[in-house]
Amino acid sequence: MLSTLIEIEKEIEEFSINNKEELENYRIKFLSRNGQLSKLFDDLKQVSKEEKPVIGKKLNEVKKLAESKFEEKKTIVESGQKKSEEIDLTLPGRTFSTGREHILIQTLNEFVKIFREIGFKVAEGPEIEEEFYNFDALNTPAHHPSRDLQDTFFISKTKKDAKQYLLRTHTSPVQVRTMLKNQPPIRIVSPGKVFRNETVTVKNYFMFHQVEGLYVDKNVSMRDLKGALSYFVRRFYGKDIKTRFRPSFFPFTEPSAELDITCFLCKGKGCKTCKETGWIELGGCGMVDPNVFKAVGYDPEFYSGYAFGMGIERIAMMKYGIKDIRLFYQNDIRFLDQF
Ligand code: PHE
Repeated sequence: MLSTLIEIEKEIEEFSINNKEELENYRIKFLSRNGQLSKLFDDLKQVSKEEKPVIGKKLNEVKKLAESKFEEKKTIVESGQKKSEEIDLTLPGRTFSTGREHILIQTLNEFVKIFREIGFKVAEGPEIEEEFYNFDALNTPAHHPSRDLQDTFFISKTKKDAKQYLLRTHTSPVQVRTMLKNQPPIRIVSPGKVFRNETVTVKNYFMFHQVEGLYVDKNVSMRDLKGALSYFVRRFYGKDIKTRFRPSFFPFTEPSAELDITCFLCKGKGCKTCKETGWIELGGCGMVDPNVFKAVGYDPEFYSGYAFGMGIERIAMMKYGIKDIRLFYQNDIRFLDQF
């Protein structure tokens, strides 16, 4: 009987099952009531006591083998899956593209890296901000147009006397928070999302990213500001790019300036990107207003400092010639894959 079992075992292994019919034939031959194995189970009664444990064990093993092959082939046949021999290994495989950092994050990181190398630390703060940090502490008077509902997203108060919250309109409140917690010298850059109640166009979006910088110490002058920003521009855009500081106004800086760079596309000759002027505006900057120092408890007679702020979208748009700000947020792989 042992030899019959070994033969059946071999037959089971060699039985080829490629379709439902063959699967059924296999089942009838080995696993049905009248199948070979169930007959052998009947015969087991006649086997001598000594032989019974050995033959019984083998019989169970063969039955298990028959069953597991049946289950395995059943799933293959039913799912219509091809046998491995039928898979054409010469066909080209599917390519998987690897993910990468979003172009805005790449730009932001590059910006931060340059300032880190010259001693700046990264400081972050909340996107939902108190009106005090976003406006009051930054010398922005109550009637200032930037507080207008058309520019700022205010968050409705739950109670009458509750604090007024809003979506921060710049990352300058991080500077206030940092100054309130630390004493000079302070050297920070604060990257992050900011929100403005703008109509969405190719140039404007209701959210964008900013990096602002702040340096406070004794005897900080406009010369230090110009030095740091000119250094940044040369590192970021190239050695042949020049900088220009144009007088401007911000409530939190005095004097204030707008930072321009020579157009990196036409190198200052004049083209479409720079509207034929040869110059491109990068961001705002200036010397920290004494009123801001007073708001955070620094003595303006003793300390001075500079601050600057730039939009990351704008920097990336100009560097890579991106014409529509909305492309950054649509997550279209055809756009993202280019960087
Ligand atoms: N906070 C200003 C803005 O959002 C930018 C700025 C920062 C200007 C620091 C001057 C100094 O427009």
